[in-house]
Amino acid sequence: MIPHSRPTLDADDAERVARVIRSGHVAQGAEVDAFERELAARFGVAAAAVVSSGSAALELALRVLDVGPGADVLVPSYACDALHHCVTRCGAAPVLVDADPTTLSLSADDAKRRLTGHTRAAVVHHAFGLGVDLDAFAALGVPVVEDCAQALGAIVDGRPVGARGPVAVGSFYATKMLTTGEGGVLAGPADLVARARDLRDYDERPDLVPRFNYKMTDMQAALGRGQLARLDAFIARRRAVAARYRERLAGAPCRLPPEAGARHVFHRFVVQVDAPVEAVIARMAAAGVAARRPVFRPLHRALGLSGYPESERLWATCLSLPCYPSLTDPEVDAVATAFRRAVTP
Ligand SMILES: Cc1ncc(COP(=O)(O)O)c(C=O)c1O
Repeated sequence: MIPHSRPTLDADDAERVARVIRSGHVAQGAEVDAFERELAARFGVAAAAVVSSGSAALELALRVLDVGPGADVLVPSYACDALHHCVTRCGAAPVLVDADPTTLSLSADDAKRRLTGHTRAAVVHHAFGLGVDLDAFAALGVPVVEDCAQALGAIVDGRPVGARGPVAVGSFYATKMLTTGEGGVLAGPADLVARARDLRDYDERPDLVPRFNYKMTDMQAALGRGQLARLDAFIARRRAVAARYRERLAGAPCRLPPEAGARHVFHRFVVQVDAPVEAVIARMAAAGVAARRPVFRPLHRALGLSGYPESERLWATCLSLPCYPSLTDPEVDAVATAFRRAVTP
């Protein structure tokens, strides 16, 4: 079976983690400090705080923007549940925004329509690796949390994603652009990052401001540093895989993702099909290829809401093909063949 996702790990990664273990200092320490400096440089921002997950980073991003009870937060409906949970964990109310059919992120026009008198922030994600323009979201008049979980390394108008909003987040889950197993980062101006650092650690504080243990370990950070050093090579291979799919799928009955140059890092290679997605997934599985819906289930469905036609359409038509650095050319060809057969009546 060709898996849908696979982390890219090597002997150097193992050695970096082993070194930390041999040092005896496994909790947050010097490796975390160094990883944070390297990430801030990569994002092109003043500072970064690493945490236990992308979800934790999202929650802390909203907290440092003073989002709390009584606030509304705009989030995409065509996205994973983490974007809903981060808002409710702050005691605020998620307001779902329909998808943009071109970027597959959220629609800036729909976001504008859904502003309320209580909107205090918007979470904008670069869906599946495609960096979006933030100008239209900045014009909403509320702070934007730039969710780079799937797009670390993408460049929009000459600047890395994560450098524009007041605050950005990333995820280092096993199958993300780079991994620490589980992990996340909040990046931005020094004052906001300092607040996030304060909130991620409850220990030995004079007061009882709500904090938690959202820290990353030095073992994870050591792995992250090795992965970050290879991020450009990972992205280059992802783009090569995408280019090969484009060649192999020319003329196939599907809509291919945009090429988008430096904007797209192809965390996912998402195609749109007319055939029923579940049936295509089943036929590909029978041929030894794991394809997936890129979003398990849109948020408006979980909440029983209507009024999200683009999200609904994308859920019905989008399919994610395996796309990761360790995928070999013969594997890409095998996926393309299985896909063509699965969508051809
Ligand atoms: C866009 C986006 N944001 C946030 C997250 C949450 O990250 P984590 O799984 O590290 O909590 C994910 C996870 O898949 C994601 O895709």
